[in-house]
Amino acid sequence: MSSPHIRESSPVMENENPKSRFTYKHLCQLASFSPSSPLRVIAHIDLDAFYAQCEMVRLNIPENQPLAVQQWQSLIAVNYPAREFGVSRHCTVADAKKLCPYLVTQHVATWREGDDKWAYRKDAAANIASDKVSLDPYRLQSRKILQLIKESLPSHLQRVEKASIDEVFCDLSAQVHSILLERFPELTRPPPHGDLAERLPRPPVVALDWMADALVDLDEDAESQDPDWDDVAILIGSEIIRAVRTRIREKLRYTCSAGIANNKLLSKLGSAHKKPNQQTVIRSRAIQHFLSDLKITKIRNFGGKLGDNVTSAFGVETVRELLPTTLDQMKSKLGDETGTWVYSTIRGVDHSEVSSRTQIKSMLSAKSFRPAIRTVEQATPWLRIFAADISARLDEEDSRRRPKTMNLHHRHGGQTKSRQAAIPQGKALDAQLLFDLARTLLNQILSEGNVWPCMNLSLSVGSFEDSGVGNMGISGFLLKGEEAQALKSGAKDPGSPVVSDRPAAKRRRLDGAGQGGTGGIHRFLVKQSTTNDKSMSLAADNTKGHEDEDSDSGLHKGSEWQSEAGDAPSESLKCSRCGASFDCPEGFQSHQDWHLAKDLQDEERGQATAAAHPPPSARPKRPNGPTSSSKNGGRGGKIEHGQQKLTFGGS
Ligand code: CTP
Ligand code: CA
Ligand code: CA
Repeated sequence: MSSPHIRESSPVMENENPKSRFTYKHLCQLASFSPSSPLRVIAHIDLDAFYAQCEMVRLNIPENQPLAVQQWQSLIAVNYPAREFGVSRHCTVADAKKLCPYLVTQHVATWREGDDKWAYRKDAAANIASDKVSLDPYRLQSRKILQLIKESLPSHLQRVEKASIDEVFCDLSAQVHSILLERFPELTRPPPHGDLAERLPRPPVVALDWMADALVDLDEDAESQDPDWDDVAILIGSEIIRAVRTRIREKLRYTCSAGIANNKLLSKLGSAHKKPNQQTVIRSRAIQHFLSDLKITKIRNFGGKLGDNVTSAFGVETVRELLPTTLDQMKSKLGDETGTWVYSTIRGVDHSEVSSRTQIKSMLSAKSFRPAIRTVEQATPWLRIFAADISARLDEEDSRRRPKTMNLHHRHGGQTKSRQAAIPQGKALDAQLLFDLARTLLNQILSEGNVWPCMNLSLSVGSFEDSGVGNMGISGFLLKGEEAQALKSGAKDPGSPVVSDRPAAKRRRLDGAGQGGTGGIHRFLVKQSTTNDKSMSLAADNTKGHEDEDSDSGLHKGSEWQSEAGDAPSESLKCSRCGASFDCPEGFQSHQDWHLAKDLQDEERGQATAAAHPPPSARPKRPNGPTSSSKNGGRGGKIEHGQQKLTFGGS
């Protein structure tokens, strides 16, 4: 039985073109989420004007009311009614009110010293010196939405990856596979001669009803072709996502936009294509058409230096202009690795997997000081706030996962000093414990002298590990030397900080990003944090309204593609394809891109992909210990704790 959205073809049509372009193998691969299946269906969901919607929902504000979320005197989110007046994130509050006199500006919640929880405060904007922004309210909403998305998809057939505070990727392949078999029983028959390489029969349909989807156009000759199974698969994906979006709307009152395509790269471009409250389908036949008009710098990972390099090396702006460049030309100008990667990416090729295992690797709480602070008495209350903030966020996490290390960064002029300590185990991990340890670290830094004025303080915890599972075992291998040392010394002498003069960013170097060490693609894929100063200037960079960082929100400018891992040091990201472990999201990302380039190369050579056995060069150089097998259980099904009551000890 076919879906009501699919019109059946006449037998004549079938006879004209009896075979599909796709094989039984492609169909089988769909069931196991294989990135090699050309039939795979990936969706990207992105909430519209997210923080602004959170405030609208929280305050029960009518939908057509222009509203912006304010942080100090800047705007960090603007709803769509306000955008019609020309209000944007770049406006100050004063400018925005000139453009739109009835604009509601709601200040974000803040932490305040002496108060035991974050709160929405009427006087927050005037208290930049004493308050620190809290994004907790948005995190809580984000979690609810993620939970609902997971509940809306069949549990055994879903793969959902949280990509940022307001984005998720869903690999719908297995669910689409199951629906295909249900609707088209001919697909359940074994292949002729039992040969999976046989091509499938064509779908018994001539026209598909895409409902209200924004459908990316095809070139005329492509449009005149009958639909094939990739079209049917993506249409089913689109139906699934429409239902998910309706559910989010009905249950939680949020609107979102979505992109549906055959990979992550395209689905993400799709969700941004038509906003708000719309979904865009990019059929595989439409990929070239869709990408051609796109500016190269709009593509994921082309926003920064890589995009600049490519546009200047070839004197081009759009994908269309770059398409005639041959693979060899790209390799000769950009190097083999980068050239291959760029060549495939502008053709819409992306074999990266949707990973439902993303877990927070670190948490960071920070404050930039304007004006700078000059005494330990000024600094200490902030440590209390950071400790309370992190502790509250830890309480929201899976309680079995516990951070093992703490870092404190202190910025004075252009210099960032940092200290690290092992977090004592076997004690309750509360705000007081975090605060005490942070203060010890601060004292260490202060003892050096020449530390005032201080422009920025940031506290982070990392090296998360499942408690009760091993202690110095596997994780010891996975940690970078210095962190492992911190753990060891912590084990002997709990709480004694490890002193390190190495700048934070150096410790964050791209272990595992080397893949041959040729300075290839990974050079471009790293976030702008390679120098000591820049790593800490992320907060300051976002001059307007981003004084406060909290890195597990994944919101830093220029880091859209970052997951909740944030930018503090993080451990043991694991490649689902070959098991290699990485200690930073950048290295991990670069490794994924290596797989992609490799797949492409293999495809070109007509080889099967060797995903399960990448050559040694694919493996990170460090850390190279055993992989962490099944330690990282997913954190699905976690309940919403809501905001925890925090206790501030007296100082
Ligand atoms: N955000 C931020 N700083 C940035 C980018 C984003 O604080 N540099 C916040 C925004 O306030 C936003 C949320 O992160 O609400 C999600 O960002 P994004 O999806 O880029 O924008 P939206 O505001 O959701 O708007 P859109 O409808 O265009 O997605
Ligand atoms: Ca958004
Ligand atoms: Ca987003």
